[in-house]
Amino acid sequence: MSRNRIRAGVAALLLIATATVVVAHGDVAPQPVNTDALPDVGEEWLTENPYREDKVGRDVWLKAVEIGASGFNQNCARCHGLGAVSGGLAPDLRLLEAAEYGDEWFVERFRHGYTQDGTTKMPAFGDILGQKAAWAIRTYIETRPEDGALDAHAGRLHEVRNELAGAKVADPKALKAELEKIAAEVKTASGAPVADSVAYEAARILTDAPESWKKASEILTVGLSATE
Ligand code: HEC
Repeated sequence: MSRNRIRAGVAALLLIATATVVVAHGDVAPQPVNTDALPDVGEEWLTENPYREDKVGRDVWLKAVEIGASGFNQNCARCHGLGAVSGGLAPDLRLLEAAEYGDEWFVERFRHGYTQDGTTKMPAFGDILGQKAAWAIRTYIETRPEDGALDAHAGRLHEVRNELAGAKVADPKALKAELEKIAAEVKTASGAPVADSVAYEAARILTDAPESWKKASEILTVGLSATE
């Protein structure tokens, strides 16, 4: 049973990856990113990410991560890797420092792209996607966990996942606290204070309500299969 679930997760990820690869062979129009839910940041391009948690609070920051995930996976993943894990085609963006220095470089490339000897290696996105999308994508990238971040906890996370999937959870509060503790140990490579790992995501949605157990177990299933 649990093997099948893992397989289903892997199959789902492969499907996404295949779709991405197919797309990579043609000239691809940038996909618009709906940023209506994020606060405006003005016309002038900023040099520092305005959507960090210490500036906008947790809800807006999480919204930026969510919108940025979709914007990234539609526009950047075909070169920079699904989930920002580089497959070698283009630099691993998780390593860009989550501070003004890294932000400035990010925005420079985002706006103007990169052309070498007349060949466009990276298209320019600035005018097409706009500044709010840029910073949402930036926020998503910098909160990605570093490689192998959950490895040390994989065994325990499998157990937690099975308990949640079995829908007989004795003490959801304790489980949530445990997931939060694991999440706090997961680091980013960018230096951003919080990594949006599957442990963090599962902890966030876990409540006393059984519907949330199923959702949390699904998040762990997909996340754990990606690390296998
Ligand atoms: C067609 C492939 C392609 C796409 C699509 C693409 N990039 Fe790039 N990107 C590259 C390449 C190649 C480089 C390396 C350029 C260089 O040598 O500086 C790069 C470099 C970068 C850099 C500088 C990284 C560093 O460490 O110096 C950033 C930031 C970046 N890209 C962000 C993005 C974002 C954000 C998106 C999506 C909105 C995106 N890229 C889409 C190919 C791509």
